[in-house]
Amino acid sequence: MSAKILVLGAGGNVGRPLVKALRAQGEPVKAATRSGAAVEGAEGVVFDIANPATHAAAFEGVDRAYVMLPAGHVRAQELLMPVVNALVARKIKIVFQSVFGVDADDSIPYRQIELAIERSGVPFVILRPNWFADNFHTYWKAGVDHGVIAVPAAQGKSSFIDARDIAASAATALTSERFDGKAFNLTGPEAVGYADAAAWLSEVVGKPVAYQATDDASFIALLTGAGVAHDYASFLASIFHPVREGWTAAVTDHVQQLTGQKPRDLRRYALDHAADLKA
Ligand SMILES: NC(=O)c1ccc[n+]([C@@H]2O[C@H](COP(=O)([O-])OP(=O)(O)OC[C@H]3O[C@@H](n4cnc5c(N)ncnc54)[C@H](OP(=O)(O)O)[C@@H]3O)[C@@H](O)[C@H]2O)c1
Repeated sequence: MSAKILVLGAGGNVGRPLVKALRAQGEPVKAATRSGAAVEGAEGVVFDIANPATHAAAFEGVDRAYVMLPAGHVRAQELLMPVVNALVARKIKIVFQSVFGVDADDSIPYRQIELAIERSGVPFVILRPNWFADNFHTYWKAGVDHGVIAVPAAQGKSSFIDARDIAASAATALTSERFDGKAFNLTGPEAVGYADAAAWLSEVVGKPVAYQATDDASFIALLTGAGVAHDYASFLASIFHPVREGWTAAVTDHVQQLTGQKPRDLRRYALDHAADLKA
């Protein structure tokens, strides 16, 4: 039997459609979640990134791994490097879900992880997705419900990417050797500001939704008031700086290079997630 593909974060925004795509291609998958439950028909395995005692069993019988930091964690190097080192020791190919823009400065923690993978000697592909469209039905869902999306983006635009297009890109990177040794900056097809995004969401949910540009302190207070940990709220505030600077407005054709398909735009995302946005 051929070796398996380990997918971290298998029940999440990217992980679930990735497991589904790999299964559709007939690939044997180990779906890592903290519960170990099966995902989309794939064998489940218990994996807690913060508990190294759970790691070795997850790596057994695996020759490729999709590596990501679950949202909500800020200690990227501390949590991811033991995973990367263990995969390298087992000569397992790594497809790493990084973050758009981190290659701007080698001192950025995520870039440090990329560099360690690049120098490791194992086959690898680095994927750097821009802001997820899916944040509108996760992080910003409470704002959609209340009719006001309040984030510190000023008038900055982002080429939001649908998690399904990240998953499709990842599925190609995991099942082909053509893209090994390369990094891809994954974006949607166009840059959109939060005011326009709010207007489109408003049409889909059938009630007014507006954008309110806010400052970091108010944003952090809003998130912590909704139960987000202070360090993660501060981290989220900090990553709006590149948005305000216009750096997240860049558009690439890297999804199409990997998948052969154009990425979905924000309208398609909103229409397909209408039920999630209205729930
Ligand atoms: N959102 C964005 O705009 C954006 C943009 C660029 C990059 N990123 C990066 O993308 C990553 C998040 O991707 P995502 O949205 O697909 O993830 P996600 O859906 O937020 O989380 C994936 C899964 O991680 C699992 N998880 C939570 N805590 C865990 C732990 N301690 N150990 C192991 N698994 C744990 C959860 O599943 P279980 O409860 O089943 O374990 C969850 O379903 C982050 O690293 C973020 O920096 C996000």
